Amino acid sequence: MEDKKTLSLLSRINELKVQKKAIILAHNYQMGEVQDSADFIGDSLELTQQAARTRAAVIVFCGVHFMAETAAVLCPDKAVLLPDLQAGCPMADMIDVPGLQRMKSQYPEATVVCYVNSSAAVKAESDICCTSGNALRVVEKIPREQEIIFIPDQYLGRFVSEKSGRNLHLWPGYCPTHLRIIPRDIIAMKEKHPEARVIVHPECHPEVTALADAALGTGGMRRYVKESNAREFIVGTEVGILHGLRKNNPAKYFYPASEMAVCPNMKRITLEKILWVLEEMSNQVTVPEDTRTKARKAIERMLEVSS
Ligand code: 13P
Ligand code: SF4
Repeated sequence: MEDKKTLSLLSRINELKVQKKAIILAHNYQMGEVQDSADFIGDSLELTQQAARTRAAVIVFCGVHFMAETAAVLCPDKAVLLPDLQAGCPMADMIDVPGLQRMKSQYPEATVVCYVNSSAAVKAESDICCTSGNALRVVEKIPREQEIIFIPDQYLGRFVSEKSGRNLHLWPGYCPTHLRIIPRDIIAMKEKHPEARVIVHPECHPEVTALADAALGTGGMRRYVKESNAREFIVGTEVGILHGLRKNNPAKYFYPASEMAVCPNMKRITLEKILWVLEEMSNQVTVPEDTRTKARKAIERMLEVSS
């Protein structure tokens, strides 16, 4: 049940949304009240697809910077507002253009597959993007004899490499939030809830992934839970996803693999900040045109593979 302050914020946000022809997109890791204010909630791929197809004039992007930037790359005619410009992604910051160029010069024949958790400038230097939901499919579309550089998440890369049976050149990036989940957490939760299925994000350490029934992106987790006959789930990803899982599956039980798996950047977005950017039309995320056109090619190649 929402309190008076939340209801009044939501009512003002809704008024402004109509006035400004705005849509609110929220990632699965957002705080509960932010997810509840959104027109669409999803994983990185679903949010990208939604941004590409919306007719709204303004997109309020409740997520982290690279996600808003991806929307800005695809929708140059729309205002993409990020309610807190400090909401970054440490993994995305682990690779920059000079670093990627050095790796490319080491493997000049390689195709560069770039996880969307990266800047637009890095995407512009890449051949094709992927998300956790389609990384395997993207890699499998590339001819087997073709060498591949996979950036920046080494653990998603290792997961895809194992599943596809292909050797990938990996960048040593990682997600600090997912690495907070350790094997001992999963073992302890399994002892406590022996009937529960274990689902984890492929950004987790391989020793964690090895203990899971399935490694899935956040959209994949939502579908898995819905379709499964199991009643209990141990969830190894950022804890924000539990809000939507519980709301959409009231007869099922969800246990976080670790309460420590919190992404502080995702939590920077609040209803107050959403209202503020809508009122002021501030915090617009833009991408220089030459970077935008190159990054767009890599994103569109991914969307073609995923549609
Ligand atoms: P998803 O695409 O699975 O939602 O993942 C995004 C992300 O940032 C994971 O940490
Ligand atoms: Fe980046 Fe990890 Fe946060 Fe996802 S959970 S946005 S990968 S820091």
